[in-house]
Amino acid sequence: MAALSVKDGFVPGLEGVVAAETRLSRVDGLAGELVIGGFALEELAPKASFEEVVYLLWFGDLPTAKQLDEFRAAWVAGSELPAATVELLRAAAREQVPVMDALRMGASTLSLGAGSEPDEAPDTVDREALALVARFSGVVAAYWRLLNGSEPVMPRADLGHAANYLYMLSGKVPDAARVRALETYLNTVVDHGLNASTFTARVIASTGSDLVSAAVGAVGALKGPIHGGAPGPALDMVFEIGELENAESHMRAKLERGERLMGFGHRVYKVRDPRADVLGTAAQQLYEASGDMAFYRLVQGVEALAVQLLAEYKPGRNLQTNVEFYTALLLHGLGLPTGLFSPTFAVSRVAGWLGHAFEQRATRRLIRPKSVFVGEQGRRWVELGMRVG
Ligand code: ACO
Repeated sequence: MAALSVKDGFVPGLEGVVAAETRLSRVDGLAGELVIGGFALEELAPKASFEEVVYLLWFGDLPTAKQLDEFRAAWVAGSELPAATVELLRAAAREQVPVMDALRMGASTLSLGAGSEPDEAPDTVDREALALVARFSGVVAAYWRLLNGSEPVMPRADLGHAANYLYMLSGKVPDAARVRALETYLNTVVDHGLNASTFTARVIASTGSDLVSAAVGAVGALKGPIHGGAPGPALDMVFEIGELENAESHMRAKLERGERLMGFGHRVYKVRDPRADVLGTAAQQLYEASGDMAFYRLVQGVEALAVQLLAEYKPGRNLQTNVEFYTALLLHGLGLPTGLFSPTFAVSRVAGWLGHAFEQRATRRLIRPKSVFVGEQGRRWVELGMRVG
């Protein structure tokens, strides 16, 4: 087949194509900068609660104390899982369904009045959207417990979203250092331009479909190993390496086999992903609080070697550390098993997906690109009995 030329208008992977306007986040891949709701990531993520960041994204400004109280009250009111959702998760656990698949199934039962006239953009608390964000963590936590033979734990009204997620997973109220670390993680990954899952959500929203459908479709996109599925394998690689002295030979062997080093490289960032720094600092504080820095140091050593080796094997590609590498370190430090890494990403990113869905609805524009036809034409019908091959 002849290679497609630029004049066909075909851009593989839509690389560099601008398909939406957003005020949610600005990604500068060359400078290595991320702005969320007008704040540099480093300014916002370590300070804000997740509820404040969601408010910022959906309403365009940080909440006042009164607005935050009302937002939190609506959040808590919508957070308990419907009985039907728990029953479905129970059935999925009996079949040992992977967590991302269970999240996709569970989330699709959180039906939010599909078919009703959608708000263009919420100027009051959108209780249905809020319930969806509030319940995503409950679906993940309830499923994880069921999968491991325990009963789900319901959220507590006196805990914030990050604390409640850890509480619903373990049944124990987490300490302040762990809550801060998770809060920083959730804030860091809440939105990131027109990434694959966000694009999926916008495409679905652009058809006039409902928010649950947009979020469920986005979960499917996030699940893929080269989008949100990388931190588990990134951590596995560090475990396989075990000691820093094994790192070089282990990673060389992978690269010689043509494998990718998970947690490195990015479609947009050609310098170090700024999220890696924010999560790296949060991880450092968390590991310091725990009194054991050994794993943190191993990860740092592996990172430095990986970047060197990628420059050697893929010269000119500028393959740098991405968000997933330090996600692995941070979530591991929080005691989350790798099976919960991608679902925890979704617990945060669902708020970004919905923010984009609001924006897309407001444009009243269907997303409908074109394809270049490269198949055969002019074929003649052959009767079934006459076909060979
Ligand atoms: N390890 C080894 N080689 C790599 C890596 C990597 N992590 N990433 C890219 N390359 C190589 C490719 O093999 C390719 O080499 P070639 O030209 O010799 O064939 C070259 O670099 C360019 O790769 P592309 O796939 O064209 O780059 P793209 O911009 O599409 O890739 C991606 C971005 C998918 C993230 C890629 O870097 C990757 O697969 N990384 C590993 C998975 C990962 O960490 N994903 C998380 C990304 S962050 C997120 O989605 C939240």
